[in-house]
Amino acid sequence: MHPSIIQGGMGVAVSNWSLARAVSQTGQLGVVSGTALGTVLARRLQDGDPGGLMRQAMEAFPLPYLVERVLQRYFIPGGKAADQPYRGTPMPNLAQKLHAELTILGCFLEVHLAKRGHDGAVGINLLEKIQIPTLSSLYGAMLAGVDYVLMGAGIPRAIPRILDQYAANEPAEMKIDVQGALEGESFIDRLDPTDYGFEKMQLKRPAFIGIISSTVLAKTLAKRAEGSVEGFVVEGASAGGHNAPPRGPLQLSESGEPIFTERDQPDIATIRDLGLPFWLAGAYGRPGKLAEAQALGAQGIQVGTAFAFCEESGLDPEVKSRAISQSLAGETKVFTDPYASPTGFPFKVLEADGTLSDDEVYQDRQRVCDLGYLRTPYRREDGSVGYRCPGEPEQNYVRKGGAPEETLGRKCVCNGLMSGVGMAQTRKGKPEPILLTAGDDARRISDFLKDDEESYTAADVVASLIKG
Ligand SMILES: Cc1cc2nc3c(=O)[nH]c(=O)nc-3n(C[C@H](O)[C@H](O)[C@H](O)COP(=O)(O)O)c2cc1C
Repeated sequence: MHPSIIQGGMGVAVSNWSLARAVSQTGQLGVVSGTALGTVLARRLQDGDPGGLMRQAMEAFPLPYLVERVLQRYFIPGGKAADQPYRGTPMPNLAQKLHAELTILGCFLEVHLAKRGHDGAVGINLLEKIQIPTLSSLYGAMLAGVDYVLMGAGIPRAIPRILDQYAANEPAEMKIDVQGALEGESFIDRLDPTDYGFEKMQLKRPAFIGIISSTVLAKTLAKRAEGSVEGFVVEGASAGGHNAPPRGPLQLSESGEPIFTERDQPDIATIRDLGLPFWLAGAYGRPGKLAEAQALGAQGIQVGTAFAFCEESGLDPEVKSRAISQSLAGETKVFTDPYASPTGFPFKVLEADGTLSDDEVYQDRQRVCDLGYLRTPYRREDGSVGYRCPGEPEQNYVRKGGAPEETLGRKCVCNGLMSGVGMAQTRKGKPEPILLTAGDDARRISDFLKDDEESYTAADVVASLIKG
């Protein structure tokens, strides 16, 4: 039996273990974001691991040597001083085993904590666009018994096969997209758990849900995935986070937002005919919308924005309360920025003073790329693989063969999102500015407040969606 409400995965660490756990405890599906969890773990440890839960969960991890190494490198008892920078983490890189280790552990802990103390199901969300940490993330999450893997932002055809392989105790490989690769040339990432010292063990094969925005993608995944797909989330353009680009040449509205038309609407009847369960997403987080989706044949809905601002989410409490006040005052502004994200996908930005939505703050920031999750692998002339991000310093990007126009208007999504969850890197005593994302429904989050309360919980959201 699948749940009727999926709490959408929200990176970075907005849908952390505590939000996912709270949702799973209501009997619906709580989903942790799997993005950048290696860095999130390293920073939580440098913040002193308040409450000790990360270290407690580490006791369940099968490789004590790896835990010890990570603790030695990152754990600071009592936490680092607020104006001290965080120690860097290795950037995702095909040859980088240290990054893979940190990711396996980070994903294991997030899922393990989300599953603690209840029998509800927990999922993990990953983005096809961020390929290099994929194998390690999947393995870490499966080690912790993850029940669902949800993945979008691309065509994750290989993932179901990888889940089968890890479940059957086999090593797995996946093809990495490398810009400029020659015809017939392929670049492969491989993760054999025994290389890291994991004993051979059979793992539960989680259900795989593809997140798609078009009928063609749904059909491709249903018919050509390398393994079984258990369902789809069908996400529309009003959803928070990244949106699929509109079809055809990019056209902008007067305000500078991409114009989506009827052609961008997936055909629900065709998706229903594929015979797999599906959930509708994108402004479905309101009372009455669950029944509406089910009347169209959906299993239910996936909701992000409403959960992003609830008490249990990872967003900084001050950010949440400002967003709730904006909603109460009818002053919420969400801008679909066609350029902000280095991925090239439109990205929904919640406007707030002092954050990267403010042009002055954006211009004032010196570009730096030190997390590297959105870097794209490219082929160097000698056949080796390099990495570049259009959000990095322009001259570096161009030196690596990137087109200068690609850098225009790009924002550092990695650092900006980290700052939004209270883990801002500090440079010369100043924190990296925040970048906030939310869907069009950010306007309505104050509807979840009860009486005179100033905040609401994940259970309030679930109750209101079900009741409606
Ligand atoms: C703060 C935030 C971060 C998000 N990050 C991700 C992400 O990392 N991966 C992903 O697949 N979807 C992401 N989403 C989309 C949600 O998972 C969900 O599909 C979407 O929010 C549903 O639409 P709604 O915002 O109208 O409820 C994000 C959404 C929000 C609000």
